[in-house]
Amino acid sequence: MEATAFAHPNIALVKYWGKRDTDLNLPVAGSLSLTLGGLSTTTRVRYRDDISRDIVILDGKELRQGSRAYQRVVEFVQLVRNESNHDYFAEVETANDFPTAAGLASSASGFAALALAATSAAGLHLLDEQLSALARRGSGSAARSIYGGFAEMRRGSRKDGHDAFAVPIAGPEHWDLRCVVAVTTQGEKDISSTEGMLRTQESSPLFTPWADTVAGDIVEATDAIKARDFQALGRVAERSCLGMHASAMAADPGVIYWNPTTLELIHRVRRARRDGLQVFFTIDAGPHVKVFCPARELSAVRSVLGQIGGVSDLIVARPGEGAALVAADA
Ligand code: PMV
Repeated sequence: MEATAFAHPNIALVKYWGKRDTDLNLPVAGSLSLTLGGLSTTTRVRYRDDISRDIVILDGKELRQGSRAYQRVVEFVQLVRNESNHDYFAEVETANDFPTAAGLASSASGFAALALAATSAAGLHLLDEQLSALARRGSGSAARSIYGGFAEMRRGSRKDGHDAFAVPIAGPEHWDLRCVVAVTTQGEKDISSTEGMLRTQESSPLFTPWADTVAGDIVEATDAIKARDFQALGRVAERSCLGMHASAMAADPGVIYWNPTTLELIHRVRRARRDGLQVFFTIDAGPHVKVFCPARELSAVRSVLGQIGGVSDLIVARPGEGAALVAADA
């Protein structure tokens, strides 16, 4: 009863921000993303009859029982145990090859890999849509990392959340884009995405007007992806990102994820675009800036971003594959 799976993080081009049900982790609106190859989480789940509680090892270190991260994993494993016909405790060993909890969406790849490994080790064989809905329970963005390339998260309308899952739009081979992650600080972020979302939806007058734009943005982004229209995709992606952050900043107290380098990067990307480079940015619940360009523009984009003092690292990713099993022995 053991399985190992990997998954890649994804970056939303139409943002997910806001929950309509916190227990089932149901989103207020849909979202749309690109799964990023080159960065990955690998997770092994082993159900054991010789342990008396779940054990979670993250990047080589055992998580303290009672810590928030431990609790999130154990609650998720319990969901899988409820669906299967065994009650063994699990040893979960997971490792990221990129910084954890720094706005690089390690929760997306983490819960996608965990959903696949935990169900496979338990002998459960779920359809992609079921796996995506399950991954959503761990982290909303994880629902999208089940698929490679571009994926759309559906809001769904059922109370039980069974129709709130992601679906594929186009595979990783569809469009040879690059995403350069400009890392502006190291370390963990101050306000988790859940905390930021809840504060925004509870107190920001801009939240509902922004959420009302999401469905239209998904249609526009999907059309742009299908037509490989870079300019159109960039326009909707920057609009969605800035609208999400504006709504968060207007919360009480304001939720601000940016640092001075984040803002400098925004202006630099826009200037580069005026100068003729095909490039756009997006930013998640952290200070890093993700810069998209066609593959042929990569070296020009790197040199523009590399000149900015506050940028500590540039991580280049390309469209990646969906979550997959490395090994299973259920
Ligand atoms: O999956 P969560 O709960 O960490 O939320 C992700 C929120 C954003 O990254 C800011 C946007 C998104 O759609 O991924």
